[in-house]
Order: sequence, then structure tokens, then C-alpha cells
Amino acid sequence: MHKQKSNNTLDSKLEAVSMSIKQSIKNMDSFTHVRGESVYVDDINIKQGTFHGVVFDSPKAHGKIKHIDYSKAEALEGVERIFTYKDIPGANQIGGIIPDEPLFAEDEVHFWGMPIALIVAKSEFIARKARALIEIDIEELPVITTAKEAKAKGSFINAPRSFSLGDSKKAFAACAYVFKGETFSNGQEHLYIETQGAYAEPQENGNIKITSSTQGPTAVQKTIAQVLGVAMHKIEVDVTRLGGGFGGKEDQATPWAVMAALASYHLNQSVKLILNRHDDLRMTGKRHPYESSYKIGLSKDLKILAYEAEFLQNSGAAADLSPAIAERTLFHATNSYYVPNVKTTVISCKTNLPPNTAFRGFGGPQGMFVIESAIARAASEIGVSSRQIQEVNLLDENDTFSYGQIAKKVEAKNTWNSAKSIFNLETLERNVKEFNEANSTFKKGLALMPITFGISFTNTPMNHARALVHVYLDGSIGISTAAVEMGQGVNTKMMQIASDVFSVPIEKIKIETTNTTRVANTSPSAASSTADLNGKATLMACNTLLERLVKVASEDLNVSVEDIKLKAEFVYINEKKSELSWTDLVSKTMLKRVALTENAHYATPEIHFDKTKEKGHPFAYHVYGTAIITTTVDCTRGTYEFDSVKIVHDYGKSMSEGIDLGQVEGALAQGIGWMTMEEIAYNDEGRLLSNALSTYKIPDIFSVPKYVEVIPVETDGNDMAILKSKAVGEPPLMYGIGAYFALQNAIKAFNTKHQLKFHAPMTPEKVLMSLYEK
Ligand code: MTE
Ligand code: HPA
Ligand code: MOS
Repeated sequence: MHKQKSNNTLDSKLEAVSMSIKQSIKNMDSFTHVRGESVYVDDINIKQGTFHGVVFDSPKAHGKIKHIDYSKAEALEGVERIFTYKDIPGANQIGGIIPDEPLFAEDEVHFWGMPIALIVAKSEFIARKARALIEIDIEELPVITTAKEAKAKGSFINAPRSFSLGDSKKAFAACAYVFKGETFSNGQEHLYIETQGAYAEPQENGNIKITSSTQGPTAVQKTIAQVLGVAMHKIEVDVTRLGGGFGGKEDQATPWAVMAALASYHLNQSVKLILNRHDDLRMTGKRHPYESSYKIGLSKDLKILAYEAEFLQNSGAAADLSPAIAERTLFHATNSYYVPNVKTTVISCKTNLPPNTAFRGFGGPQGMFVIESAIARAASEIGVSSRQIQEVNLLDENDTFSYGQIAKKVEAKNTWNSAKSIFNLETLERNVKEFNEANSTFKKGLALMPITFGISFTNTPMNHARALVHVYLDGSIGISTAAVEMGQGVNTKMMQIASDVFSVPIEKIKIETTNTTRVANTSPSAASSTADLNGKATLMACNTLLERLVKVASEDLNVSVEDIKLKAEFVYINEKKSELSWTDLVSKTMLKRVALTENAHYATPEIHFDKTKEKGHPFAYHVYGTAIITTTVDCTRGTYEFDSVKIVHDYGKSMSEGIDLGQVEGALAQGIGWMTMEEIAYNDEGRLLSNALSTYKIPDIFSVPKYVEVIPVETDGNDMAILKSKAVGEPPLMYGIGAYFALQNAIKAFNTKHQLKFHAPMTPEKVLMSLYEK
């Protein structure tokens, strides 16, 4: 575990004090979660007279709307009104990066599930009944469902982007081995437990308050203002917490909130709109499927000298966050490896699927799967194990990434070597070999998966946050930031920060709802950066308040500021407890008319990126780690279990070990699910076939690895991370990629004729076919 080094800076004193809190901290939301008291959008006490909305969406993936007959639906008892694009007072436009997405279809539909109208009725039941009475006539147009088809037809979201380093063309000529191939990775459904939803309440003077299940309250506020044609200050967005977001509510919580607000605006009544699971699955976008091709060149001693890849991103029918996600694919295309000659290109392809969107890893996993596939292919052709290639190419200090950033404080080799030694890789490999020799109907496979993930929004201007901290007269504390609690534990981390600075118990601290009137113009809670950005702002605000309080204490006690410390709710003078308590100090500060409120702004220093050159220093730091995954395949059935996942992970110096472990375990399960069992299926007409939990399988308690062990790598931490505790939300998802290759190795042990394919997910059906392929 972490070792604490002692020195006598103020920082390390604070750190020492906080260690007790750090070790014992639980996710503070768990108390209300287990009692069923946590409040989600659907739990809000609604006002009398509240209307309920249901979205009418396109029953075809592409076509011209010839006619819609709403008359029967409108005539239904209890239906208040049906809203279409004609009722929009401002712009019928919700595109975040590119203005290419209408809120409601006008005369064309571009995906199955595209919103056309909002039915508002006395109850959701009535609105649903009314929906079935709407008649629509669509003249169908050709449907594109795959990225390759889109590319062939020239259907794109925007211009392609390329990163390059060195000269890959020249380098290939000097390679001992060169291999080319293709890969596919499928989409992934977020399956947040709380579906998309919002509650809009009219206020006086035409103002509207919206409670939304969103990761991005400012995006919701801005888009509502734009669609209604009103100023942003008339719109207040409030978020208590999300029952999961996973990226699916970074952009795609917006339309439902806008619709609820639009209806509320017209009716001057409260409107509640919550998608049921079927509607949510059909209408919302998912992780982007990628069709990619690669070319990899290696020297005799297995050094990757050159790598080229083209990523075809299936973006869906509108841009949504696709351009940003495409960019992150390029940033992570070489994963944990140093490759001196690289050329990578990503093409966002416009198809007739719901606009695909952010999903934990944000395009990074898709990029990493391709280079891991290229390595597996090269290893198989050369006749070595993947790990021999992985190992000799790991990033080192001062290596250059293809985007120009110089790798610093690199833990790639450290986590790899630690994993090998701590978990005794040789023994693990020997066990697999011996098992496979002794068994003919069950085979084991093992794979290593190193990860390197950049922390910061890749769009530099988004890396900022603010915190508003009040110390109340009685010494209790309220904190507002832009952080949205979605299960990742960010609220607990912010409580810990304030608790550390003021040395008061967690019980004295309240994290307020995330609200656009208290903290404005914010970036979404995403990019794993929420705790870093909002936590640093909170730390700054608390430190400023502390300085003021200490100054009052020094005047009151007539001692110098340097001799004063706050400890366990008392003022200490030179480590000796004084009579002055925390609460008395707060009252005295108030009587002196010194402000007990502070608002701080944090913007990540040092980062920059020049998109015209595709070079810069976009990340505050990187997170590293290595996983060893072992699987057992039942070769009669094609089913499999994951015996163990053993990880050495770079937490920096974790400020909340339990929460961070939970993040690693959850992300790992989600990554394994994406790679092995979650199979999104659309038919050729663009209709979602995997539209229920009976047809879309996610990992459950029986299919998660039997044994997961996570050991923190020992490092000095990184000052760009909050209290040196590195971001943890997304990086561990990519350990799951190792599951694909572990399965592939088990298949190879059974069927030597198996031709390696890189087509995820590796479902039991695919495993079975590979086992018996001739
Ligand atoms: N963990 C839970 N329980 N629920 C979530 O929705 N979202 C993930 C990750 N962990 C998520 C989660 C994603 S996509 C991101 S970007 C980060 O949390 C966001 O939170 P952070 O920035 O505080 O890490
Ligand atoms: N990660 C997650 N979400 C984002 C990013 C990013 O890099 N950029 C814009 N939204
Ligand atoms: Mo996470 S995909 O950045 O919301």
C-alpha cells in the first residue's frame, strides 16, 4: 500500500492529518442509497397539475415525412397538447459541437427513434396511449448502418483528422516484419439504472427551473435558452445526482430537458418527462462502433518501428460529441507503447443510427483495441507471445506521444514489472500451460493489458471549474461546484477536501445540488476530471477561507499566524490546544465582519494543444496500469468464465481508497462486458434489435471475474491531481480489453487452426464457432 514520506511542509502536515479520514471514508451517498432515500428525478415531489410527456419518435431510420395525423391522439381524453418543431420559439437546434441536430424532425427523419413530437397529457399512461394513435406516412430513403457503407457513399460528419510522428512510410521499409489487418469493435449501451429524464417547473416572470438527470447542467441551460429563444439567466438547471451516466448523459440528457422546458413554457405548468427503458434504448446513442484497419511494422527484436491506423467511427445521424471522441481515439491509438513512426487517421462517418455519444473511455478504448489487435496478430505470425512484443515497447520517461506531449513520471514499465512480480506471472503462465496439457474440453487463456490514459478534456478551454463555499455561523459548511455525483463518489471526495482543510468532521459538510445559478458556465462532469477540476477549486476556496479564519484567530489569541493550526475543531498554538473552538472562531470572524463565503476558480495550468499542427501538451498527466486476465473456456459449449483479474494500478496517492477501488472494479466489469458479451444489434433497416435486457446482455454477478485484486503502484503522486489522488473514472475500463485476448489465447490452445479475428465482442457464440473452425 501507499507509503507516507514525512517532511515538514504545511502540505504534508495536512496530508498526515487527513490520512485517518482517507482510510475510513465511505461513499457518503451509500447511506441514502441503501435506505432507498436517494433522490432521482423520478422521486421529486411533483406539483399539483403537473403534466406528463411521452416522445413520439420515428418508426423508420431514414425518409421524408409525407404526412402526420395527430387528430386521434389529440382527441384522446386527458391529452393536453402535442408539441412539434412548429412550436419552437427559438432555434430547432441542439447540436453541441456542430449545429446539425434538430430537437424535433421537420420534414425528414434520420434515425429510428428520432424525436418528432412531444405528447403532453394528464398522465404518462394517457400520453403513451395517445402515441399509439398517431399516424405517420414516411417515404423511405436508403439506410446506412455501418461506417464502411457511409465512407463508400461519402457520408461524413466533418473532415477527417490525422496525427503523425516521424515518417511511417520510410520506417516500414526498414522493418523485418510488416502486418496489415482489420478490426471491429461494437457499440455499447450505457444502461444507467436511472433512464433519461427531466422535470420542468415554471417560475414567475417566465423563468423556468429544470431538474435534469444530466452530466452537463450548463449544456442543458444553454440549449433550452437557444430553443426557447430566451436568455440563459431565465433558465435554472438543478441536478441532485444521477443513477449513473457513464457518458450517456454528457450530451444526451439535453433533448428531454429541452422538451420538458418547451412544454412548460407554453402551458405555464410543470411538466415531467422520463423515458421508459424501451424508449431510452431506442432513442439514445451509444458507444461508437469502429471499423478500423492497421499496419504494423517491427524490427527483428520486436520493436514496433511503425504503426498506421485508419479508424472509421460510426457516428450515427448527427455529430453529438463524435468529433471530440474521434480526437481521443487518436490520442490513445498507441496505448502504453512508444512508437517512433506513427500515422493515424479518424473519420467520423454519418449513418442512420441514433447519434452515438460519450461512453467511459471516450474513444480511447476503441483506439487501444486496434493496436492490441495488431500486436496479437504480429505475435501470432512471428511465433512469439503478445506479451513479448508488449513488454519491449512500453513507454519510458521522455518518450514522445504522437501528439507531441513528452511522457513524464511514466509508470508503464513500473506497473507492468510490478504486476509480473507481485502476481508471479511465471507461475500463472505455468498453471495455464499445465491446465491446458491436462484438459481437453476446458482451456485456459491469459493476457496482459497495459493502459495509459490522458487526464484532461482534450479540448483545452473546457478544463476549468469553480467552487462556492459558505461557512455558516454555526461552523457548518456548504459547498457548491459543477461536479455531478453519478455514483463515482465525487461528492465524498469534495467533503474530504473541506474536512481536511478546516479539520472538521465530514458531518459538518454538505455538498449542495449542482445548480447553474450557484456555479455558472461549467464544463460537464466528464473526462474523469470532475474531482480534479472541482476539487482543486474547492481546495482553493477553502484555503482562502482558512487564511482569513487563521488571521482572526491570531488577532484574537495574540499569536503569530504561523503558529496557528486548526485541528479537530479547535485552534492549536504551536501544536498545543487552545480554548478557541472552531465554532467560536467562526462567530468571531463574523463579528469582525470578515467574509465567510468564498468563490474560487481553477483552470488546469500547463496544458495546450494546437489543432492546426495536431501537437501540444493536452493532458495534465497520464494514468497507467497493467492487468493480467485469466479465463477458462468450456470448449463443448463456447461459454467462459474469467478466473481472475490481477491489476497494478496507478492511483497516484488515493484520497479515497474504497471509492477508487469501486471505480476500478466497475470500470473493469464494464470493459469486459463491452469486449465479450454486450452485443448491440441493428437490422439493415436501422431498427435496434437488442432493445431490451432480454436481448442485450451485460455482466451480472455470475459473469464478472471470480477474483479481482488491485494493488496500487507506489509513486510520488502527481500535483496536477487533487491531493495527488489521480483521476480513476475511465482508465480501468480499458483493462477489459485484455479479456478479448485472454479468450483468443484459450481458443488457440484448443484449435490451432483458428484464424485470429479481431471482431469484438467475443460472445460465447463466436467463441464456439472459433473453437470448431477448420
Ligand atoms: N461511476 C459510476 N458509478 N457511475 C457513472 O456514471 N461514469 C464514468 C466514471 N465512473 C460513472 C462512473 C465516467 S464516463 C466518467 S467520465 C467519470 O466517472 C466521471 O466522474 P469523475 O470525473 O469524477 O471521475
Ligand atoms: N472527455 C470526455 N468528455 C469530453 C471530452 C473529453 O476529452 N471533451 C469533451 N467532452
Ligand atoms: Mo465520461 S465518457 O467522460 O462521461
